[in-house]
Amino acid sequence: MEVRKVGVVGLGAMGAGIAQLCVEAGAETVGLEVSSELAEQARDRIAHFLTRKVEKGTLAESERDAALARLTLVGGPEELGDSDFVIEAIVEELEPKRELFAELDRITRPEAVLATNTSALSVTEIAAATERPERVVGMHFFNPAPLMPLVEIVRAELTGDDAFEAAYAFGERLGKTPIRCHDTPGFVVNRVLIPLLNDCIRVLDEARVTPEDLDTGLRNGAGWPMGPCTLVDLVGIDVHVHASEALYEKTREPRMAPPPRLVAMCNAGLLGRKSGRGFYDYGD
Ligand code: 3HC
Repeated sequence: MEVRKVGVVGLGAMGAGIAQLCVEAGAETVGLEVSSELAEQARDRIAHFLTRKVEKGTLAESERDAALARLTLVGGPEELGDSDFVIEAIVEELEPKRELFAELDRITRPEAVLATNTSALSVTEIAAATERPERVVGMHFFNPAPLMPLVEIVRAELTGDDAFEAAYAFGERLGKTPIRCHDTPGFVVNRVLIPLLNDCIRVLDEARVTPEDLDTGLRNGAGWPMGPCTLVDLVGIDVHVHASEALYEKTREPRMAPPPRLVAMCNAGLLGRKSGRGFYDYGD
């Protein structure tokens, strides 16, 4: 299946990163956000990272300009109608995702593949909102999407081989290392990483260690590229709490439940890097 035009719905940190990968891979990309202001912020973010590549000599200026020209920002889902492939990266809540997929089902061509970047929700439940669950697949990227090599290609209960392999091939075209898995809570990586990060946060209180020392510990004692507090700040404390809640709801394993400290931070608006403050202060 040839993917010429891609729709990306939701242009937050993940969606903007995914849109960046799409335009860099030569696909015409149509981006949709809830407001034109947020959409423009995403375009600026993509332009910023592509310009950094130019400054570092890994991308020609003409390639950056051509990539940016492949991105079109639109005002409503109806403008995604002629996409061959749509990747959804909106808020991590089931109902908004199901509503969006029902809408995408109505407006896109029957052969279009509809992919969700959900972290921990059921792809099968999202697919069930459409009349074509065989064309729905999970495509789970890792934060920051332009830098992390992995993408999990998730087969929901009714995903057809065609759509599944099209998503795998598209992941490769985006320069990623795809792996195939089934639609189980947390798929592969988050099934392991979310309880592990929750344990790390609980250790903050149990061992009365500072976030700085905990991060130093895991970086220097376990070879992590960034410590757990830095990582949760990067992912977004709200995103991590939502994913933990979704996993806990499905598995009922106590380690999956979000630690109260993270829930309190979330309620206080301390969301990590994106809000300027989480475990660390980013001062912007
Ligand atoms: N988008 C695009 N480009 C980016 C970027 C972003 N968000 N962030 C950084 N870059 C670019 C920048 O241009 C930067 O260069 P510059 O600083 O000179 O401008 C360049 O990439 C390299 O950045 P860094 O110097 O920060 O790169 P590092 O070598 O330090 O590696 C890292 C950064 C790859 C993020 C590394 O620290 C790492 O692997 N961390 C772990 C991340 C991780 O575990 N992610 C998974 C989270 S879990 C998840 O996403 C699942 C979800 O469901 C919750």
